[in-house]
Amino acid sequence: MERTFICENVTSNESGHLCFASQDVINLTAKYGTPLYLMDEERIRQRCHTFKDAIHTCFGDNAYIAYASKAASFKEIYRIMKSEGMYVDVVSCGEIYTASQAGFPLRNSLFHSNNKTDDDIKYAMDNDVGYFVVDNEEELFAIQKEAKKRNITQKILLRITPGIDSHTFAAVATGKVDSKFGSAIKTGQAEQITKTALNQKNIKLSGYHCHIGSQIFSTEVFLRAAKIMIDFIADIKNTVGYETNILDMGGGFGVRYLPTDPVIDIKSTIISIGETIKELCKTVGVKLPTIIFEPGRSIVADAGMTVYTVGTVKRIPEFVNYVSVDGGMTDNVRYAMYKSNYTLVTANKIDETCNIKASIVGRCCESGDIIQENVPMPSTVCRGDTIACLTTGAYNYSMASNYNRIPRPPIVMLKGGKSRIVVRRETLSDICNLDE
Ligand code: LLP
Repeated sequence: MERTFICENVTSNESGHLCFASQDVINLTAKYGTPLYLMDEERIRQRCHTFKDAIHTCFGDNAYIAYASKAASFKEIYRIMKSEGMYVDVVSCGEIYTASQAGFPLRNSLFHSNNKTDDDIKYAMDNDVGYFVVDNEEELFAIQKEAKKRNITQKILLRITPGIDSHTFAAVATGKVDSKFGSAIKTGQAEQITKTALNQKNIKLSGYHCHIGSQIFSTEVFLRAAKIMIDFIADIKNTVGYETNILDMGGGFGVRYLPTDPVIDIKSTIISIGETIKELCKTVGVKLPTIIFEPGRSIVADAGMTVYTVGTVKRIPEFVNYVSVDGGMTDNVRYAMYKSNYTLVTANKIDETCNIKASIVGRCCESGDIIQENVPMPSTVCRGDTIACLTTGAYNYSMASNYNRIPRPPIVMLKGGKSRIVVRRETLSDICNLDE
């Protein structure tokens, strides 16, 4: 029986196997082994197109989409972003290095982080990073000093904290006044840093940035942020005499991890935020800035899947069933860290009735090494079965670790019925690579 799961790129075939991007997942595991990250290139490109179509509908050429590459950072993703004409958001020398190794034109990048070291600043300038997104005054002075030494003018955006509670998980909410990120409007620090930036000889203030949080489903929260930012832009125009050229509204669009999660229509959401921005600018009498959005998760999440092989199945009568897999918190730390939901399926028994529930756990020496609890499974689940965790394209590989000295899985990219390794599997010798 053919079925579709959560996203249209996840289906099943007549052998009772799960398929991803129309390829049989069991065949892929035979070829590449497990644990295995799979990614669907067409889906990544489709999401880029959806975002780009939406902003171009609203703003013509006066807008950009910058992929927040912290969601999934490896060379091939920057090559895809380059070929899609996307900007990227980078947050570290590691991401800058990866992008540059992939031939990504870093003039089309925005460099974030709340604590850029002097070395980070130098490295970003060496690599011609387009915009620094400046978090605080101390950083502003450090950038000015380095730009002066090089006799260049560095373009920047200022990260502003709009003072919004995005009602998302606390660890991924960033827009509140007491956030570690940015300069708050409420405290006067946003105005202060604007004045200071305008006084720096080797800095060109191009505009403002805000990011209110991640995994947000409510358009209303984005609309509130837009209103606060545009009111701020108008206040600054009136009090300081500076009118912004760029407004970067950050990322944060929610994705479906469970069938019960809402579907966000990206096109209509972006258009609704865009139309509001246009109206607000008119109302307060400021010119329409160039608009940037910075989605990460919503570009790559449902373009990813992780596949595991079942090892030990442990039944503790009247308590819980444990199904242990050959990966765990080392390749997906999001349940351990945020209690994030995921949909998991038994990929080689897709047509069997799920009549038990189990905790899917990893193989780390840690009780919290759980991928998900209460997962419906067929009672026949046993050693050698294949389990797929869906929607793992964002913040899984990029947050992976070598805890317990477990090598990280490879990433295999799927496209047009073909598959290719874009990040190879770590080996045991890789594990000792840095050891003297
Ligand atoms: N722009 C800025 C400045 C950000 O800090 C972030 C995410 C984004 C854009 C992209 O947000 P997205 O569209 O992906 O929601 N590790 C957490 C997520 C942390 C997000 C950090 N910043 C997780 O696994 O849920």
